[in-house]
Amino acid sequence: MPAISFQNVSKTYIGKSGAVHALDDVSFDIQPGEFFGLLGPNGAGKTTLISILAGLARASAGHVKVLGHDVVSDYAAARRSLGIVPQELVFDPFFNVREALRIQSGYFGARVDKKANDAWIDELLANLGLADKANANMRQLSGGMKRRVLVAQALVHRPPVIVLDEPTAGVDVELRQTLWQFVARLNREGHTVLLTTHYLEEAEALCGRLAMLKQGRVVALDRTSALLAGTASTMLRFKMDAPLPAALAAQSRVTGRIVQITAHDAHEVETILGVLRNAGCQPEDLEIGRADLEDVFLEIMNGPPRTVAQVRVAV
Ligand SMILES: Nc1ncnc2c1ncn2[C@@H]1O[C@H](COP(=O)(O)OP(=O)(O)OP(=O)(O)O)[C@@H](O)[C@H]1O
Ligand SMILES: [Mg+2]
Repeated sequence: MPAISFQNVSKTYIGKSGAVHALDDVSFDIQPGEFFGLLGPNGAGKTTLISILAGLARASAGHVKVLGHDVVSDYAAARRSLGIVPQELVFDPFFNVREALRIQSGYFGARVDKKANDAWIDELLANLGLADKANANMRQLSGGMKRRVLVAQALVHRPPVIVLDEPTAGVDVELRQTLWQFVARLNREGHTVLLTTHYLEEAEALCGRLAMLKQGRVVALDRTSALLAGTASTMLRFKMDAPLPAALAAQSRVTGRIVQITAHDAHEVETILGVLRNAGCQPEDLEIGRADLEDVFLEIMNGPPRTVAQVRVAV
């Protein structure tokens, strides 16, 4: 039985300026024990899909199940199986961190065994770098610390399925590493993880399988390694002050002085270097490396629309 199953999920928001098709016939399953990444640009529909999973929004069509429990007709069981870290910072300003975690445990009946629950809360606080903030009021925490509390709240009832909607937005480097170590440990212990992030190097490092959404549709669904293998494999990176010759603009990504150009083979690399030379460009710190997930992502997002049949489905 899949840990999470999305079956033909569509969502249309009707607003003053017309209808927004946030999700259009999204179908895929996530198996128990997977570390699964859901990627897509701003507005692609990631949070909408997670909101439907969490029972915070209703699908316009289709079904969603968590460990076989339908999120509408069997809401309580579905919700109990999930730990969700929301994208938006929401917190109750009247409690301290430990109280907030105990209250959250209470919602899920996890305080039947108070001693075990308190020990787990201590472990969460320690692993998320919050031990010295246990008695601090939620209002007194910085933005990154509030996000750590949201992660702890999601995990407090030991849910088998963990859903993280951009958990590392605004989080410092150190916590990012501790957080990923902790989530990876939970995944090794059998928890299923669904993650959305705009940090593609995190997704590449952590997720065994990925789905990419574009304007509410699944445009890629495959193992991370297969997605990486199936794209332009070589990447030229260099720094340059002068503008790039127009002939290279289409296959380039420019971030400040840093230019990255995709190439499919050695011959194409030579051609690119020839174009630069003929234009009198002087690239500095030239490197030739493998394409990473960011390159794959941009190729898929900027590429021609794919039909469902072209989206490879592999478990
Ligand atoms: N409550 C709402 N009412 C109307 N439209 C909405 C609502 N929530 C989301 N949308 C629209 O649905 C689309 C998908 O939004 P969603 O928040 O799911 O994107 P996302 O992939 O999570 O983006 P981001 O990376 O910015 O978090 C967007 O066009 C958004 O404007
Ligand atoms: Mg979102």
